[in-house]
Amino acid sequence: MAIQWTDDLATGVAEIDDQHKELFKRIDRLFQACNQAQGRLEIGKTIAFLEEYVDTHFGAEEKAMKQRSYPDYGAHKAQHVYYRNNLLTIKQQIEEEGPGVHLIILTNRLAVDWLRNHIQKLDRAFGDFLQSGA
Ligand SMILES: [Fe+2]
Repeated sequence: MAIQWTDDLATGVAEIDDQHKELFKRIDRLFQACNQAQGRLEIGKTIAFLEEYVDTHFGAEEKAMKQRSYPDYGAHKAQHVYYRNNLLTIKQQIEEEGPGVHLIILTNRLAVDWLRNHIQKLDRAFGDFLQSGA
């Protein structure tokens, strides 16, 4: 299993695209660790990284949206909040139960399904909005 940033995820905003690439890189590291049966060791590091990095990243996106009075700001931010809450739930469960396989699967699902979908739909919509010069 692997996860890779692909061109169809480009928003056209260099800062945002670079941050997405970094997210994918780190999540892929977790996949690689899982492939080598090292997932339990890597999951804590990945969650710690994501927890800090998504704040920076979501913050940068939200700031750019506010600056441009982006009409979908509220709905977009709500998705960021949802993601962050999920991350915190997983973190808490890992602290309580240890890094079980189902938590690694949950993290992967959150990383792949949610993140990829979010970027492909909402972040790209924002990129289009910026490029339309609205
Ligand atoms: Fe976003």
